[in-house]
Amino acid sequence: LDGSLPTITDPATEDALLEAAKIIRDTDETVAFPTETVYGLGGSSLNDNSVKNIYKAKNRPSDNPLISHVSSVDQLNRKIYLQSNLKKNSLLNNIPKNYHSLIKKLWPGPLTIILPTPNPEIQTLSKLTTADQPTFAVRIPSNPVARALIALSDTPIAAPSANASTRPSPTQASHVFHDLQGRIPLILDGGSCDVGVESTVIDGLSSPPMLLRPGGFTYEQIVRLGGEQWSNCKVENKKTVAKGEKVRTPGMKYKHYSPSAKVVLLVPNDDKSSLTTASEKIQKFIDIIKSELTKPNSMSAINIAVLSSCQLTDLITSDILLKHVPNKKFLIQSLGTDGETIQTNLFSALRKVDEEDKVDIIFVEGIHETGEGLAIMNRLKKAAGENNLVLF
Ligand code: TXA
Ligand code: MG
Repeated sequence: LDGSLPTITDPATEDALLEAAKIIRDTDETVAFPTETVYGLGGSSLNDNSVKNIYKAKNRPSDNPLISHVSSVDQLNRKIYLQSNLKKNSLLNNIPKNYHSLIKKLWPGPLTIILPTPNPEIQTLSKLTTADQPTFAVRIPSNPVARALIALSDTPIAAPSANASTRPSPTQASHVFHDLQGRIPLILDGGSCDVGVESTVIDGLSSPPMLLRPGGFTYEQIVRLGGEQWSNCKVENKKTVAKGEKVRTPGMKYKHYSPSAKVVLLVPNDDKSSLTTASEKIQKFIDIIKSELTKPNSMSAINIAVLSSCQLTDLITSDILLKHVPNKKFLIQSLGTDGETIQTNLFSALRKVDEEDKVDIIFVEGIHETGEGLAIMNRLKKAAGENNLVLF
């Protein structure tokens, strides 16, 4: 938390990082960079024009505020609160006590906290970063490329996911290139993102404290590690927002994570006795496909992707499906059979069948909403839309 830095040993990496850092520090332009969650599209949080360019490149509505990424709490104090040389024991003075246990345990990492904006005399953050809210969102990412970039530019970096607005978030540099080529000057390629979904956004300013967006750290981890106050943490679960209504996480009112293909999400039935044998599961899935293909906008679908997880992996094959649903092409891929693996693979699998294989419909097998399941199902429900959920 005090600003110690990763070491860069490779000269080509150092050059790329310095070039990117210069863009962030000295220009109004943006840079895409890897984080442990997803790729971000970064610009200075302190500069109106940089933030405008982020919204523009993504085509994102500007009432959806951005997360500021810092490399240390020391940098947060210096750049956002204009307080330098704080002693070690007062480093956390600007952060409400509620958060101390969590950030000591989970930063750097996929945890975003909501803080009150500093008083107006200080006014360092661009009002466009916060979309004029009385609060701002901040996190310290753990990805070494991200932390080096933020430290080298010595600038808090506003960064939403580096996808075109409404598309699935990018977990590889090639996803960013697909969506934003020609719209931004530089992409830092740091390989695939480990976590695969965005950070967990928490609000410790409200009572009870809230989990605003499930993400890379689970609800259970927040409750377990947060101390007393977080034991009754509530999960924000509003689905729709009335026109003009103020929301705590403005992002939730927009279409999100959606491929071009139609996504049909299989939601596990809580009634555990519903499907037990392999043949029951296969039959139920075939019924779901058949029923979908009778719908007017799905009837003409030829190429069908199946992204399986816990129940269907190793159970269904293209041959089995073709026997019951002839004259189609099935592409079957497993997302994994445990939460962490499914989370890591989720967005890249959606993008692959959509952008490379260009399928017409994607059936995705969902999982129970515990542990990583909460974030996974949050993203998948948005990708599918409320009308395309079926009990499995
Ligand atoms: O993992 C991540 O968080 C990625 C990487 C790049 O760090 N970033 C990301 O940013 O997901 P974005 O802009 O896609 O999501 C930011 C979320 C949105 O749901 C937004 O509404 C919420 O944080 N948010 C930002 N500022 C807020 C505030 N002041 N109050 C409440 N929610 C806020
Ligand atoms: Mg996003």
